[in-house]
Amino acid sequence: MQIAILGTGIVSRTLAAKLASLGHDVHVGTRDVAATLARTETGSWGSPPYSTWAAENPSVRLASFADAAAAGEVVLNCVSGTGSLAALQLAGAAHLAGKVLIDLANPLDFSRGMPPRLSIGNDDSLGEAIQRAFPEARVVKALNTVNCALMVDPSRIPGDHDVFVAGNDPTARAAVTGWLREWFGWKSPIDLGDLTASRGLEAWLHLWLRLYATLGTVDFNIRVAR
Ligand SMILES: NC(=O)c1ccc[n+]([C@@H]2O[C@H](COP(=O)([O-])OP(=O)(O)OC[C@H]3O[C@@H](n4cnc5c(N)ncnc54)[C@H](OP(=O)(O)O)[C@@H]3O)[C@@H](O)[C@H]2O)c1
Repeated sequence: MQIAILGTGIVSRTLAAKLASLGHDVHVGTRDVAATLARTETGSWGSPPYSTWAAENPSVRLASFADAAAAGEVVLNCVSGTGSLAALQLAGAAHLAGKVLIDLANPLDFSRGMPPRLSIGNDDSLGEAIQRAFPEARVVKALNTVNCALMVDPSRIPGDHDVFVAGNDPTARAAVTGWLREWFGWKSPIDLGDLTASRGLEAWLHLWLRLYATLGTVDFNIRVAR
């Protein structure tokens, strides 16, 4: 499958490496290919410069946001929350139209220091804002509630634990549910219905960040007991 992953950070790289290992054609999108390849500084979460990672993952293509989105049959938004709408504008509405757009971003605003605020919330969400801006895309919020290592390997935590899908198009939610099972091994993603569920999925970050500080690990998740 042709898969576009918008973003060059740790989330994009983790997903790209996993999906490429499964035999998919992965197109990573960035604002400026030459500038991204020229970077020498360490990235978020201590990740190496993109060019170092790319040398270890030669099958993953790096392209502009527009070229990556054009190539993808499905598009994954792995851009910072505050940069997501700008990145998707660069990707181009025409390249998103009709496609499933999986939104993994969290609208974290670090401009006032730690802990971050949500740049959007309560009666709105980033997932909904993306859907409004790109009405022809089939936006599905998923995987934003777990660390990226866990996204691609739920077995890092023993036993059953949960991820969620939310989107206005039931066939898109079903497609993403199938991909989460097939690509990464999530047994039973919980279908939360329409995109207003993004409000809670994104607000979870307040508690996720506190749990991370308290537990000292990113290997934890929600288990919905019934
Ligand atoms: N870390 C995790 O495990 C985790 C888990 C769940 C969800 N998330 C969410 O996943 C997303 C990606 O996280 P990350 O840490 O991998 O990367 P990140 O540092 O949050 O974002 C990096 C990407 O954002 C792009 N970007 C930043 N500002 C932009 C702007 N103004 N216009 C266009 N693009 C812009 C950068 O583009 P360039 O490539 O051009 O520099 C880069 O590709 C975030 O929304 C995060 O909240 C993270």
